[in-house]
Amino acid sequence: MVTVSASAPGKLMLFGEHAVLYGYPCIVTSVDLRIRVSTKITDTRRVTIRAKGLREPYTLTVEEFSHTRSLPNEVRFVATAITKFWEHAKEKFGIEVVSESEFSESYGLGSSSAVTVATIKCLSEITNLALDLRGIFDLSYETVLDVQGGYASGFDVAAATYGGTLYYVNEGKVIDLLETDELPLVVAYSGLKASTVEYVRKVKEIFEKQPRVAEFIMKHISVLVEDAKVALAERDYSRLGMLMNLNQSDLNALGVSTYELDLLIYAARLNGAYGAKISGAGGGDCIIALVSNEKRLAVEKALEEVGVKGAKVIKVRTSAEGVRIEGRI
Ligand code: MEV
Repeated sequence: MVTVSASAPGKLMLFGEHAVLYGYPCIVTSVDLRIRVSTKITDTRRVTIRAKGLREPYTLTVEEFSHTRSLPNEVRFVATAITKFWEHAKEKFGIEVVSESEFSESYGLGSSSAVTVATIKCLSEITNLALDLRGIFDLSYETVLDVQGGYASGFDVAAATYGGTLYYVNEGKVIDLLETDELPLVVAYSGLKASTVEYVRKVKEIFEKQPRVAEFIMKHISVLVEDAKVALAERDYSRLGMLMNLNQSDLNALGVSTYELDLLIYAARLNGAYGAKISGAGGGDCIIALVSNEKRLAVEKALEEVGVKGAKVIKVRTSAEGVRIEGRI
């Protein structure tokens, strides 16, 4: 039996988190930390999944798997991707899946969407269904929505599928590849894994209690996203940094930044970054700072030394390649 492997990149939200869930655009870049998935169709009519964090492989017959309602966290995305793919292919087949990651899922760099996209890519290849990128995005996004109960714009799925730096509108209504160079970013993990759902709910509450104000903030963010698109095209990093700071002010207004995240952001700014902000839902995960070559070391040092427990700089390169086949043996 053939084994097909594929990998997909993680992501960083550059501009427009939260606003994207309310129909406004965002800008996301994929990063060169990847998740790799290998798949093999078996004639045993069993589904077997091996993943980090599982003490032993998760294995069920195809029939048991079709009816199970309780999936362990470690396999939820891969397992749901398999079910979605079966529905699409109108055929249930036994399969072995192994996933490996180059980064910790705590970082909030999109490990769930990357593992989903890599799984769908493998299945599409191994069954010769040859889904195009839009087909991979659509099935992967359905999977993520199912697992996360509807709280997902799909920007991370788009980054894992298409790669590069994207201008993105909720539910994949627009997915435009932007012409950019690799961005001079410093990324720092805040030491705390954030709950996206909790922070999405927090913003929803503001919307319910202060709809006019919340709408105003979201519109403001969307203006920043449009200007950032221009600044990216012009490689105008000083302007892009200013736009990052403005976007961060809006995220502060929405109450999704924290003391620790703000400490990191100010450490970056005070040490010469063009600008800095959180990347993602808030509450933890990573911050990003845009820097010149001359300031990079000083900013990295400041982030490591500012005294946020567990904080560390993560080396990544932006605008990485989207999902790709790694091998077929
Ligand atoms: C989370 O990384 C970004 C949010 O906009 C949620 C989403 O777009 O799915 C808060």
